[in-house]
Amino acid sequence: PFRFILDCDTGSDDAIAILAATAHPDLDLVAITTVNGNVSLDHVTDNTLRALDHVGARVPVYAGADRPLKRPDFPIPRAILNADSDFQAESIDFPKPVSTIEATGAIDFLVETYMDDSSADVTLVATGPLTNLALALAAEPRLAERIPRLVIMGGAHGNGNVTAAAEFNFWVDPEAAEAVLAAGVREVVIVPLDATHSAPLTLADCDVFDAIGTPAATGTARLLRHRIATDRAAQAVSIHGSQASPRAASPVHDPMCVAFLLRPDLFTECVEAFVTVETAGERTLGELLVDTRPWCPHPPNATVALRASVEVYRDFLRAAFVSGAEA
Ligand code: BDR
Ligand code: CA
Repeated sequence: PFRFILDCDTGSDDAIAILAATAHPDLDLVAITTVNGNVSLDHVTDNTLRALDHVGARVPVYAGADRPLKRPDFPIPRAILNADSDFQAESIDFPKPVSTIEATGAIDFLVETYMDDSSADVTLVATGPLTNLALALAAEPRLAERIPRLVIMGGAHGNGNVTAAAEFNFWVDPEAAEAVLAAGVREVVIVPLDATHSAPLTLADCDVFDAIGTPAATGTARLLRHRIATDRAAQAVSIHGSQASPRAASPVHDPMCVAFLLRPDLFTECVEAFVTVETAGERTLGELLVDTRPWCPHPPNATVALRASVEVYRDFLRAAFVSGAEA
């Protein structure tokens, strides 16, 4: 199986990534590191353990950074952005976890793991703010050559989702995102909003997952229904509410990074480019800049996914959940 570590800030889409990863027979999720993001670090870690316990998966969890590198907290209340991160809610209903975290912290774990030759094939998937990885790279710059491949959910080439310019993960910790992209990691794939918004999942997908019936599949259905309801409620109060009727579909960002590990055909349009993150802009803080100018003076440092196939995405999720049903 394909080995990887997930660095995440477990809200509902990170949780679906965990459920799909632990269910899929061709994936080996060797560890999870948690980071402040969708909710506070303790809440993220609790959500992570709830998701793992829900499916009875034993994956070691290492807690990481509880705040961004330089920014103490969020300029807007987190609850506004993250109504979908309460796993106690009746609609999600993941019971209080019995599993516990490891004694080692996430930064030490990442450094020790990647400095060890036995991890030469372990991909790193990051679906939260990049604080843990930035701290690990600062502590041990050789990690840039040791991590074989880094797949990041973050950024937007078009509009952001927190501001017109910035996507949530890069906006929470722009300095960390910039440091990671500048570190020279060998192979970097960025999955921005352009890709995730091009392949939203629907209420019909929830019915398919419910019919499969395993805890991973039904848990995903509950999380996805909750996401769709939350998005609809947000659209209903939008000041531009008249522009479109609320959709019964939602982008499910983070699991796309996991799907890509087994299904490179997931992304139907990609660009190789020199990418940076804005750390000073008044209106553009956290913006991902994708320099596609032919005369860009810097060589590409990432592959950026711009479009995804919803059919391939569905195929991956079904394969993960169905194989669990047969086991
Ligand atoms: C990203 O922000 C988080 O809220 C999601 O979990 C995802 O990682 C999307 O902008
Ligand atoms: Ca996330």
